Amino acid sequence: MLFDTHAHYDDEAFDADRDAVLAAFDGLVIDPGCTLDSSRAAVALAARHPHVYAAVGIHPENCGDFVPQHMDELRQLACQPKVVAIGEIGLDYYWAENPPREFQQQVFRAQLELALELDLPVIIHDREAHGDTLAIVREFPALRGVFHCYSGSAEMARELLDRGWYLGFDGPVTYKNARKTVEVAEMAPLDRILIETDSPYLSPVPMRGKRNDSRNVAYIAEKLAQIKSMTPEEMADLTMANGRKLFGIQ
Ligand code: NI
Repeated sequence: MLFDTHAHYDDEAFDADRDAVLAAFDGLVIDPGCTLDSSRAAVALAARHPHVYAAVGIHPENCGDFVPQHMDELRQLACQPKVVAIGEIGLDYYWAENPPREFQQQVFRAQLELALELDLPVIIHDREAHGDTLAIVREFPALRGVFHCYSGSAEMARELLDRGWYLGFDGPVTYKNARKTVEVAEMAPLDRILIETDSPYLSPVPMRGKRNDSRNVAYIAEKLAQIKSMTPEEMADLTMANGRKLFGIQ
């Protein structure tokens, strides 16, 4: 059985067939919120589907209208049943129209503090912001979680692994130009890797260009199995155990 630890089923791309697509996946899923509304939707989906869990958080791209009262709402949401993490949170310096960097950092820190307070792991988005993300994570040595769709250097990966973090691998590890990500997967210990789809985005080879869903996490498992010289079934079992451990799912 597969565990897709990162899929956005609250996204409008699934408005027409969300429940059917989820029902077709025989595995576990975590749906991380990207706004307060999307976090609420993720919690509702988790309530409706036994195999779906939720994370709640405000994504750096969506943090522009953040005010401190939003933390109270997040805290309430985080205490709902089947909420297993704070996420998707972090820093995104890729898009020029994103909120200012200092503001993103402020919202990121506030949510890391909430995770510490509630003793929850975090799901981190780091796009073109490796130095600042690492620096902020160092301020919270007691925190654990996953760097979603890890895209940093092998050197940064080593420090994160030493600090107890997990690395998430997504569609890009199957792309032809994935040499750097493959190198990171090669050096990552077996007990720290997770497989994710980031549905509806980042479809792996051979599904590129189509809407992504959790069934495609099998392609990520296959690719990682090849890198680690294991069978896809062994990789599925391994990442299932890793996901259950990090997110505290029996
Ligand atoms: Ni995501």
